[in-house]
Amino acid sequence: MAGTILCSCSQSDKVLYRDASAPVEKRVEDLLSRMTLEEKIGQMNQFVGIEHIKANSAVMSEEDLKNNTANAFYPGFSEKDIEHWAEQGLIGSFLHVLTLKEANYLQSLALKSRLQIPVIFGIDAIHGNAYAPDHTVYPTNINLACSFDTLMAKQIARETAEEMRAMNMHWTFNPNVEVARDARWGRVGETYGEDPYLVSRLGVATVEGYQQNLDSDKDVLACIKHFAGGSEPINGTNGAPTDLSERTLREVFFPPFKAGVDAGAFSLMTAHNELNGIPCHENEWLMQEVLRGEWGFRGFVVSDWMDIEHLHDLHGTAENLKEAFYQSIMAGIDMHMHGLYWNELVTELVREGRIPESRIDESVRRILTVKFRLGLFEKPYADESKSMHIRHSQAHRNTALEAARNGIVLLKNDGILPLKAKDLKRILVTGINADDQNILGDWSAPQHPENVVTILEGLRQIAPHVEFDFIDQGWDPCHMDKGQVEKAAQHARLADLNIVVAGEYMMRYRWTERTDGEDTDRSDIALVGLQEELLQKVAASGKPTVLILINGRPLGVEWADEHIPAIVEAWAPGMYGGQAIAEILFGQVNPSAKLAITIPRSVGQIQMIYNHKPSQYFHPYAAGEKSTPLYPFGHGLSYTTYEYSNLVLSSKEIDADETLHVSIDVTNIGEREGTEIVQLYIRDRFSSVTRPVKELKDFARVSLKPGESKTLTFEITPEKLAFYNRKMNRIVEPGEFIVMVGASSSDDKLIKENFYVK
Ligand code: BGC
Repeated sequence: MAGTILCSCSQSDKVLYRDASAPVEKRVEDLLSRMTLEEKIGQMNQFVGIEHIKANSAVMSEEDLKNNTANAFYPGFSEKDIEHWAEQGLIGSFLHVLTLKEANYLQSLALKSRLQIPVIFGIDAIHGNAYAPDHTVYPTNINLACSFDTLMAKQIARETAEEMRAMNMHWTFNPNVEVARDARWGRVGETYGEDPYLVSRLGVATVEGYQQNLDSDKDVLACIKHFAGGSEPINGTNGAPTDLSERTLREVFFPPFKAGVDAGAFSLMTAHNELNGIPCHENEWLMQEVLRGEWGFRGFVVSDWMDIEHLHDLHGTAENLKEAFYQSIMAGIDMHMHGLYWNELVTELVREGRIPESRIDESVRRILTVKFRLGLFEKPYADESKSMHIRHSQAHRNTALEAARNGIVLLKNDGILPLKAKDLKRILVTGINADDQNILGDWSAPQHPENVVTILEGLRQIAPHVEFDFIDQGWDPCHMDKGQVEKAAQHARLADLNIVVAGEYMMRYRWTERTDGEDTDRSDIALVGLQEELLQKVAASGKPTVLILINGRPLGVEWADEHIPAIVEAWAPGMYGGQAIAEILFGQVNPSAKLAITIPRSVGQIQMIYNHKPSQYFHPYAAGEKSTPLYPFGHGLSYTTYEYSNLVLSSKEIDADETLHVSIDVTNIGEREGTEIVQLYIRDRFSSVTRPVKELKDFARVSLKPGESKTLTFEITPEKLAFYNRKMNRIVEPGEFIVMVGASSSDDKLIKENFYVK
């Protein structure tokens, strides 16, 4: 198949745009000059693949489509039509293509088109290319964030790029650089947590890992998303309105996007939500003024799923679909994610003179630039014979395991961990996530069982001489069986120790039954179903009980915190999550991760974030309800103890444009080797506008042998001290600042020192 296509290309090899040695800008201009209006608009059209259409048209009715826009097909529009469009050059990009066979096939159709412009395949490769079967599944972003490991983030992104290109995918809809500030929101697990600085650092590392210089057939295009504010929805639900001041946007939500743009991210996805009354998909201020004007973004903007349509059928800011397309393009959208009427109506808008063709050219230029830079014209296919060898390579599997070990947070330990296998004959294992692929997390397809180590399997592997008594609770937290709960309670009395694996259910192939993930928001953050009852009944056995949590959003497990001696927050730790958890429980791995997000006690505490304003808890809650988090941002335990001492500042007084140097000694005073995540926070003591009680400004991972001590140094640059004053100018104000260094955002874990800006 590929051979035929290459032959037909060779006739046109003399034309400039096909000349791989010509500069990209020249190739783009040459190709653009040869394109018809329809072909140009086709480049801005992204469509789902054939198998996606087939699968949905088989099970969905027109009525379903109205109520569930997460799937898509258009009655009467079949895969034959897609093939025809591709051959006409009317589809510039595909998404939701999950096999290499289909990708190569669709590409062969595009290469039959008049100008033989390859399509760019986009995919939600959020934590590895896991949305498609047979790929390495790394821990989800929130788990990765808890490792504070930027090198690991970059490595995972690089390996993901390699696996994607082996499947002929060129563009990942990641990193999600939204700052998560509401635990009800189902997409928290896709994010790097609640701190703008940490999110920025991990986002940048991820963009760099995917794209490198975005100039070879080894790279993939990153997409920073979703712009902007959807991670603080007014009622916690995905796509609900957000009402955020410009100050909050600029201080909390924008920095990771700006950092992503500076790192070279060449695509950006707009957010479902309206922002201060204007839907993001027609928000000129966001896309033109801020993104392109202020930040100099040169890549292209893709809409999110059905969101331009929603300007008309949901938000009601466009009277019809044509108007919605008009508004979104004029506001800055370059590519439309899936939909039937784009090509026809946008062509009409240009022919009617409402959208200038030059505006279309701008978008097409950006899209073609990426296609040339990624080498798609030279290498439009991936080699099926090599693909499986690259995906799942041993090196990638090792990274997935290492990442899981680094991202699992030990929340509580009254001394029962690490477990001693020799003292334990029989362990009860129960709970919905004990033996389930749910550890893979959202945006993962089910994988072959031999490529996943569930928690039960991990325990059996790491402690082969222990008898594990497994009482199955099914996968579904909403439909647990009381009988099985009772059975677990009885078996607990016969065990030396109990392990309850609770949490949420996140696998998207059970879209309507899951409890966490995209479009799966909750009005509560307690354990769903009979899980708490299971935990309480098992613990009532009087035998020590360990709770392991598998989830995306923080869970307010207050009862467990009071009654259960050890709690492990594993999030969705990926394909080797079960092994990593077992290694931590049995002490083969010393846990090191720290929370990248605050865990509130209850849903009523939301918004519960560490970097809040000074007055947030001036008045405590009544009736004895607590105003403190269950576990603060930055918290995480280890099997060793670290001591912090000797916080030294290079000066007590600096100029506003000067950099301050900070050093601290960290000593491992315990008996085990470990890695500590050292955190540096700042508070601006007195300021012309209110400032957060603390803000993370740097961190470091440091490995220490028992008795070993290291001195760490940090820099506090003027940028780290700056904020938006009353006139919204970004400045460093004179006055007192407090530097805090330590093991968590909690005051009792921080050593403090002040300094002055002149
Ligand atoms: C999500 C995006 C995703 C897109 C394509 C949308 O529903 O909001 O994050 O990239 O679907 O799958």
